[in-house]
Amino acid sequence: MKPLKQHTIWGLRGSFILAATGSAVGLGNIWKFPYITGENGGGAFVLMYLFCIALIGIPIMMAEILMGRRARANPIMATAELCEHAGASKGWTAIGWMGVLAGLLILSFYSVIAGWTLEYALAALDGKFAGLTGETSQALFDGLLADSDLMLQWHSLFIAMTIAVLALGVTRGLESAVRLMMPLLFVLLLILLGYAIKEGEFATSLRFMFSFKLEDLSWEGAQIAMGHSFFTLSLGMGAIMAYGAYMPSSQSVGKTVVIVAILDTLVALVAGVAIFAFVFATPGISPGAGPGLMFVTLPVAFGNMGAGLVIGSVFFVMVILAAWTSTISLLEPGVAYLNERFGLHRIVASILLGTISWFIGLGSVYSFNDWSELQFLWGKNYFDSMDFIATNIMLPLGGVLIALFTGWKLRDEIILHDLKFESAWVFRLWRPVLKFISPIAVLVILYNGIFPVLRAVLVE
Ligand code: PHE
Repeated sequence: MKPLKQHTIWGLRGSFILAATGSAVGLGNIWKFPYITGENGGGAFVLMYLFCIALIGIPIMMAEILMGRRARANPIMATAELCEHAGASKGWTAIGWMGVLAGLLILSFYSVIAGWTLEYALAALDGKFAGLTGETSQALFDGLLADSDLMLQWHSLFIAMTIAVLALGVTRGLESAVRLMMPLLFVLLLILLGYAIKEGEFATSLRFMFSFKLEDLSWEGAQIAMGHSFFTLSLGMGAIMAYGAYMPSSQSVGKTVVIVAILDTLVALVAGVAIFAFVFATPGISPGAGPGLMFVTLPVAFGNMGAGLVIGSVFFVMVILAAWTSTISLLEPGVAYLNERFGLHRIVASILLGTISWFIGLGSVYSFNDWSELQFLWGKNYFDSMDFIATNIMLPLGGVLIALFTGWKLRDEIILHDLKFESAWVFRLWRPVLKFISPIAVLVILYNGIFPVLRAVLVE
């Protein structure tokens, strides 16, 4: 099978790893992971999450890279090309289409939260956290949520930052951005960790994150852990497939994926442990604080510790970098498609898609103020509905389709061609896991997670 079109390929060896890790490490790791861990029992949740990463995340990430790299095209054209080659129904191209759509939807609400981090980085630099208490911190956050103009401004800026990188192109934009931002992000994270060990309640935090209680395991927790394993590894929507198209053929898929998954998990765990170490060190605040953990609880901790001004700024700048290297990957599949299919310049393509996503995001901006009473899905507001549809339905569904397509439809020769650098056991283990275990695990968890909600709604 010959590649559709000779794509750009990232020349520098580490670029794919940095880009994929950049996509993976984001608000999911630093904002979401710590608070869903706090809400779902700490250690038990971490265990279910690690299980999902190993059994579902890693095999599906390998499949996405393989598909993108084999076809050397954006997810829509890659799936179309691979279908043709495998003699499979065109219906499988739904993987690419649904992925582009999921990317637009996720970006629409993701950039609203990412926008908050811009406001908070400025607030930290401005010394606004100094002496915050639980109440004044809540008031600061509520003030932001009530100010739809301010939120709109930051949402727009984050989308503009995303467009700017994508418009610069695959090497000058994407590759340079991740080569610059990812090392900086790791340095900032290490500074935070060092400070948390020195000044925070590190041991209490470790106990909270890793002590395991059997009664904390639940289907709901499993579903959240699974949804999160897709979200955090950026799987099921073609971001990794799009990046895979730029990965050199000589690089081992298996090793790369394991490195990305380990880095992503490490960042989530380190960020979680550091955040809880700061929280436990501050009297009067508690860890199970939900989505407000990063924006209400943590600023109180920063405002009341020795080097809080510096550490608070380091923290929020790090979150901005993490979110930015993720938002670019949300839009890349669509931008690459418009560019490769219609020859649209990347500048035009990224402005067009960025604007669509910005527009869809307006509802999320208003979910926190003017529209907070409006319900869209089963009692969920607009923001939560978008998150639910994209994260809990589209990503796992996309993931199952990718696993089934690669596991059952692609011919061995295609797969072997790309996995020739792997040891034989990788292939022997990976294919059956992808054929049976990953899809069944996703479907069981999806069913058990969604069925009770549906039943509750139907019975009502
Ligand atoms: N992985 C990112 C995070 O954890 C979010 C993301 C999802 C990015 C899907 C791209 C695709 O924040």
